[in-house]
Amino acid sequence: MSHDAAPNLDFAGTTPYEDYVQADVLTHLQHPRSEDPGEMVFLVTTQVMELWFTVIVHEWETATRALREDRLPVAMDALKRSARELDALNASWRPIAQLTPSQFNAYRSALGEGSGFQSAMYRRMEFLLGEKSSSMLVPHRGAPRVHAELEKALHEPSLYDETLRLLARRGLPVPQAVLTRDVSQKYEPSAEVEAVWARLYEGDQQSDLVRLGEALTDVGELVWRWRNDHLVATRRAMGSKTGTGGSAGVAWLEKRARKNVFPELWTARSHV
Ligand code: HEM
Repeated sequence: MSHDAAPNLDFAGTTPYEDYVQADVLTHLQHPRSEDPGEMVFLVTTQVMELWFTVIVHEWETATRALREDRLPVAMDALKRSARELDALNASWRPIAQLTPSQFNAYRSALGEGSGFQSAMYRRMEFLLGEKSSSMLVPHRGAPRVHAELEKALHEPSLYDETLRLLARRGLPVPQAVLTRDVSQKYEPSAEVEAVWARLYEGDQQSDLVRLGEALTDVGELVWRWRNDHLVATRRAMGSKTGTGGSAGVAWLEKRARKNVFPELWTARSHV
């Protein structure tokens, strides 16, 4: 083929690009509810974040399964991809991170009672991190597919559960109560698990288990950053008003942002 050959223009039906990407569907899912020109980027940022949540859930499900099957390299690849995806997710705050209350008010009432709190994909991320709660299924009772997916995720071991089971299979003293815990409940930190991580971190820094601990720590840090960027954007846009989802707003988000992801990976550091 010569260097100046032009791309094909002639397709019998829709383009192969469209058939794969469904760009026509994707770019017609934006239905602003106000006349305010600033609403479009708020809506699209939210949709973009939903897509990143979807990718990240996919990576963490891959990693969880791989850990269960003792395929650590596959899990590590998925976790490392997810860290770069979390960077991209977090960067997508930029266009809406500095809204003034007036700018946000221009379309806020159009959101009605809608709130990101009702995001099922975000909830699946939290479930995979071990932040389980059956009450988080309640908002989705009216949406059978979403509800079924969330219910399944609630009863599956989290990324952290599978990590701890792997550590146990490698001979580390993870307590039986942790290994056989009811995985549909929120993970509660354990002093023995903290001691396991402390022991690992005292040893060979090149070991695959320390590397796994660090990959999870990267994930935990980036999730914490998302929560904090959300918190600060919210504080700028609405001060201490109550949320559209009915919560106390910033005060409630502050409490959520204080939670540590993979708690013992952080607390163990005091003992190394
Ligand atoms: C400046 C824009 C935003 C403001 C002012 C805001 C405000 C809030 C508030 C006040 C809450 C607490 C629940 C409530 O009462 O509504 C909340 C929760 C939440 N928001 Fe936003 N939000 C913004 C943008 C976003 C975006 C773009 C997303 C992306 C999907 C998002 C996702 C979430 C999620 C997932 C929660 C639940 C967090 C949890 O369960 O810990 N928010 N938001």
